[in-house]
Amino acid sequence: MPHPFIISPCTPTDAPELGRAQHTIFQSPIYRTIYASVPLEAQLAKFTKSIATGIAEQTHPTPGREITWLKCTTDDNEIVAYINWIYMPTGYRVEDDHQATVKDMPAGTNLAVIEEFYRVARVMRAEHHGRRGPHFLLSLLGTLPKFERRGAASRLIAWGLERADQMGVPAYVDSSPTGLKLYEKMGFRACGEMMVDLGRFEGVDGKEGGLGVQRWVAMRREPVKREGGADGRDDE
Ligand SMILES: CC(C)(COP(=O)(O)OP(=O)(O)OC[C@H]1O[C@@H](n2cnc3c(N)ncnc32)[C@H](O)[C@@H]1OP(=O)(O)O)[C@@H](O)C(=O)NCCC(=O)NCCS
Repeated sequence: MPHPFIISPCTPTDAPELGRAQHTIFQSPIYRTIYASVPLEAQLAKFTKSIATGIAEQTHPTPGREITWLKCTTDDNEIVAYINWIYMPTGYRVEDDHQATVKDMPAGTNLAVIEEFYRVARVMRAEHHGRRGPHFLLSLLGTLPKFERRGAASRLIAWGLERADQMGVPAYVDSSPTGLKLYEKMGFRACGEMMVDLGRFEGVDGKEGGLGVQRWVAMRREPVKREGGADGRDDE
């Protein structure tokens, strides 16, 4: 019987390990395209820096949003999975969407592709009326391949959903195809779609490695009224 995983807040010292985890976990066609010409060390430095900046925002919050980075670890403190939840008390505003903004990219980044990805993400986020009110955004979630299907992601999602329920606000996620089943299981339902056609970009061969049209689904989960105090576990 495997030991249970432990959930705790991320701290600045976690950033290098989380940066390596991000590189291992996110190997989808769009990531591979964006970073195809970026040396590994530069990719790791980029991921580590942006995660460290995000974790620092927990203690020095930006007005208009509250950030939470959580990690799931083994009992000997190895990172299993991590999540970034953002609570937006005043709703989504394109001008505040720092996550979908191209900045500090390493040399070699395919800027045309990342700019297109962020453009369609901003349109999708701005389009959905529900996002104009207070809501939680599940911004980033990953489980290391060797720990998949052991419930780590579900527990990290449940943490945010419990808070969304306590506050009576919806939760959103922009899901890659990989996450769809998991988010549906956690009560999210599709409410929009976005796509990037990698075949339109120079230097990207639409035939190799399954590259071509990439799709994401915007998903919304309505708050659930809980009886007698929630414990953060999946009660869908
Ligand atoms: C998607 C991801 C976060 C799932 O993490 P996980 O820790 O394995 O998820 P859980 O163990 O909590 O899964 C719970 C349930 O979700 C569903 N699920 C999870 N991954 C699935 C998959 N790849 N295919 C089908 N169903 C899946 C299953 O119903 C699973 O329950 P089961 O194992 O009892 O069948 C992980 O595979 C990952 O990091 N993938 C790469 C990055 C990514 O796609 N991130 C999220 C998309 S935005």
